[in-house]
Amino acid sequence: MGDTTGLQAAKRAKKDEFYTQRVDIENELRHYKPHFKGKVVLCNCDDPRQSEFFKYFTENFEKLGLKRLIATCYKSQDVDLFSQGECKRAVYQIYEGDKNGNMTVDDDEVSIRYLEGDGDFRSAECIEILKQADIVVTNPPFSLFREYVAQLIKYKKKFLIIGNVNSLICKEIFPLVIHGDLWLGASIHSGDRKFGVPDDYPLDAASCGVDENGQRFIRVKGVRWFTNLDYPQRHETIPLYKKYTPEEFPRYDNYDAINVDKTADIPYDFNGIIGVPVTFMDKYSPEQFDIVWQASGNTRACAPKEVLQLLEYHAHPEDRGGCAVINGKRMYTRILIRRRKEEGKKS
Ligand SMILES: C[S@@+](CC[C@H](N)C(=O)[O-])C[C@H]1O[C@@H](n2cnc3c(N)ncnc32)[C@H](O)[C@@H]1O
Repeated sequence: MGDTTGLQAAKRAKKDEFYTQRVDIENELRHYKPHFKGKVVLCNCDDPRQSEFFKYFTENFEKLGLKRLIATCYKSQDVDLFSQGECKRAVYQIYEGDKNGNMTVDDDEVSIRYLEGDGDFRSAECIEILKQADIVVTNPPFSLFREYVAQLIKYKKKFLIIGNVNSLICKEIFPLVIHGDLWLGASIHSGDRKFGVPDDYPLDAASCGVDENGQRFIRVKGVRWFTNLDYPQRHETIPLYKKYTPEEFPRYDNYDAINVDKTADIPYDFNGIIGVPVTFMDKYSPEQFDIVWQASGNTRACAPKEVLQLLEYHAHPEDRGGCAVINGKRMYTRILIRRRKEEGKKS
């Protein structure tokens, strides 16, 4: 039993060892410069000797006007799980800027301290460090993403973190989206992203490879930034050009809502509830639409009663817990949205 658990932990740990590339960090961070002035930034799933997040913030410390940068790294008790695990104890590092003005990060400018435990972001000592931070920026372990976000919300932290787009609709995160406490970041809206992987990572899939510097990588689909930091593009509305017709936009069998298969086709003159694909979230502006709920396998169990009433939801034999159904055919998850009243008045 112990072995099985160890094996599972090892598998999970391996799955979590993806290293974010500098280009993706730079492309996203350039949208948020004003948020960082005078702030304490924490990267709490980052080995400072290897994390591009830590390197980015040390190199841009003065440009961003940061107050302090802290990075904590996680080391499993089983060091062998990690190819990079040359350090037996978890450490954290603090950087407070270029003290001698030589424009480089010198060893004596980075203070290295040991943690008592393994650096788990949920441990009491890491929570104490989290409390000191204003903004948390990292790519957390995918297997613990929901717990990770819940902790950031609990401690009322600003954050900019990497996750998978499917996490948006899970029952722990979707309510945050509806209430405007979390949204997608500015730079990644489609395609896949390259992540570095440890040297012993098996290159057994078409999505894996070795780059020109000999670094193993994997391409991952569905990657997005998740944040509660505002940026101007998020307020740009989607230009709508289609007129509503019942033929083109049929009603669901089990919801009082119409179906739209492509975000760009949302009709400009329909004021009821509209079901759109999850990729709508890449274009979502809170000034243009309200998110009412989602039509998915979780809806019947998770949506509040008054929301189900508003949606005029009636269980359908084909809906598997609340997926939208048209003429007896079940759809993929739909986000149920409604034009904001002020928007409706414009046209
Ligand atoms: C997806 S990787 C990203 C690493 C780094 N943040 C980056 O972007 O390059 C997630 C990291 O979280 C670490 N990790 C796994 N479980 C953790 C935990 N409970 N607490 C803190 N870090 C953890 C893993 O060791 C792994 O390095």
